[in-house]
Amino acid sequence: MVVVSQPVPKCKRSSVLIPVVDLADPTSKTQIVKACEELGFFKVVNHGVRPDLLTKMEEEATKFFALFQSLKDKAGPADPFGYGSKRIGLKGDVGCVEHILLNANNHLSSTKSTAVFRQIPAIFREAVEEYMEEMKGMSSKVLEMVEEALGIEPKEKLSRLVKVKESDSCFRMNYYKEKEETQAKEEIGFGEHTDPQLISVLRSNDTEGLQICLKDGTWVPVPPDHSSFFVFVGDTLQVMTNGRFKSVKHRVLTNIKRSRLSMIYFAGPPLAEKIAPLACLVPKQEDYLYKELTWSQYKSYGYKTKLGDYRLGLFEK
Ligand SMILES: *[C@@H]1O[C@H](CO)[C@@H](O)[C@H](O)[C@H]1NC(C)=O
Repeated sequence: MVVVSQPVPKCKRSSVLIPVVDLADPTSKTQIVKACEELGFFKVVNHGVRPDLLTKMEEEATKFFALFQSLKDKAGPADPFGYGSKRIGLKGDVGCVEHILLNANNHLSSTKSTAVFRQIPAIFREAVEEYMEEMKGMSSKVLEMVEEALGIEPKEKLSRLVKVKESDSCFRMNYYKEKEETQAKEEIGFGEHTDPQLISVLRSNDTEGLQICLKDGTWVPVPPDHSSFFVFVGDTLQVMTNGRFKSVKHRVLTNIKRSRLSMIYFAGPPLAEKIAPLACLVPKQEDYLYKELTWSQYKSYGYKTKLGDYRLGLFEK
């Protein structure tokens, strides 16, 4: 496959500070709401995830991506689950990235996820299972704090969507390899997009590359922090809050000198769940900016679009 290298769009350096949320402090909920409204993005500290689990995940993922290509290919091609290299999604998008995508609930019901699990050692499998549980816990906790701060009813309206066993969440590990040539240029690792789910929780190693887009279109680099997590608001949460929360556009540029490894948990609702603005937040139906769709309808539409397409249009009235 010929991969045409795409021009790297300019990033205006901006002095925006990424909001930092202490997850162990219940009063952080107002800060979470503010961050979700203004940026659709924040950093989480005091999260309670064991550092040795993070180290194990990083070591094992590094070993996997260092395997011979023919071995990694046994866990692919991504359909979208499984191992993939360069291709992003099913519509011809490419980036300088290798990845593994797993179905986070019932992952063994997908053949490709099973193929990945067959390719990796038991110690990695167990770490992945434990990590996904931790991420489910962290996403529900963030959503619970949002529920409390906004007075969302009925109880657990949002957090339940990611807690139930039917929730359609997935887990992705991305590996952006450093360049061997000394003359190498920065390239697009993962092109700009928003995440379709409710929220996504990212952890990366100490290599920069992630950028988020502000409401005025300015791109801002996010300084890496391997001991913290980063939370993104996704399209579904934007719809449910009737646009009060912003699903944040983001992208990753490759770092020429150092490889980057990131892990993202996409907390999604069950397939049959009807997604629409929440009545408790928007009393009058005529104020709804979005119509109702099931998560499954939105997701299948997403598979037919390119990475950078504006998908929320499908929800707009
Ligand atoms: C990040 O992870 C990659 C893959 O494991 C590794 O090659 C690289 O050295 C790491 N970078 C840093 C700065 O830790």
